[in-house]
Amino acid sequence: MPMDDYNQFVEKIRKKTGIDLSLYKEAQMKRRLTSLRDKRNFKTFNDYFESMTKDQELFEEFLQRMTINVSEFFRNPQRWDVLETVILPRLMKESSKLKVWSAACSTGEEPYSLVMLLRKYLSDRQFDVTATDLDQSILDRAIKGFYPERSIKDVPKDMLTKYFHIDKMGYKVTDDVKNQIRFRRHNLLADSYDKGFDLIVCRNVMIYFTEQAKEEIYMNFSRALKPGGVLFVGSTEQIFNPQRFGLEAEQTFFYKKIKEV
Ligand SMILES: C[S@@+](CC[C@H](N)C(=O)[O-])C[C@H]1O[C@@H](n2cnc3c(N)ncnc32)[C@H](O)[C@@H]1O
Repeated sequence: MPMDDYNQFVEKIRKKTGIDLSLYKEAQMKRRLTSLRDKRNFKTFNDYFESMTKDQELFEEFLQRMTINVSEFFRNPQRWDVLETVILPRLMKESSKLKVWSAACSTGEEPYSLVMLLRKYLSDRQFDVTATDLDQSILDRAIKGFYPERSIKDVPKDMLTKYFHIDKMGYKVTDDVKNQIRFRRHNLLADSYDKGFDLIVCRNVMIYFTEQAKEEIYMNFSRALKPGGVLFVGSTEQIFNPQRFGLEAEQTFFYKKIKEV
């Protein structure tokens, strides 16, 4: 049976970019991309793809739409309180240097929040933060570290004065915070995972993936954690039956690695 227009598009995107749209929930993804295709006046996904290969802007727009980039500093503040008061004290006791990964970090609010929090308790030499995302243009924005008022609403006052230059245009993260983070491109669905993490923060991206893709990613995260290391997930992303991945819930939304898988 010949593949339909959308599935052909999925296949061509995979060949061109290595991004496998079939691992994202189909109804949601198809709806978002159909509305974008219609907005740009293409009748078929085939025509849309052909134009994309010649027009970089069209391609970038597609990338931006397929990856939803909304983020905030200290998103869901109660969870960050748990991180600060329960999870971090244990991790700091068990490890002399914390290796931290903010996966699918979008425009950088999450890894910058991590650095600001860790600096309350540790010197810069006692922790290391890597921040990754699929989308290079988003990472470029993260590296600039420039934010509008709405993203900083949950930043504590003392951190705001300590870690931001404030002007009429917005809020810019200071260089000492920026220098603590290594930003790099990483596709959770295709690239290999580094190892030995004390803490992996991966929030508000798993919701877009199929069950099969999620299972693989959780397995990879578990293998990337040290024994006793923690995976911090988004507020709608509780893991069903975490023991399958060698994890157990230490707190709601925080999973501790209890065995190798
Ligand atoms: C909604 S943002 C989440 C940002 C941040 N973690 C938070 O919770 O505020 C989702 C991010 O996932 C990224 N993303 C989507 N698919 C990805 C993949 N396969 N690998 C890595 N990142 C991906 C997107 O580019 C986007 O920046």
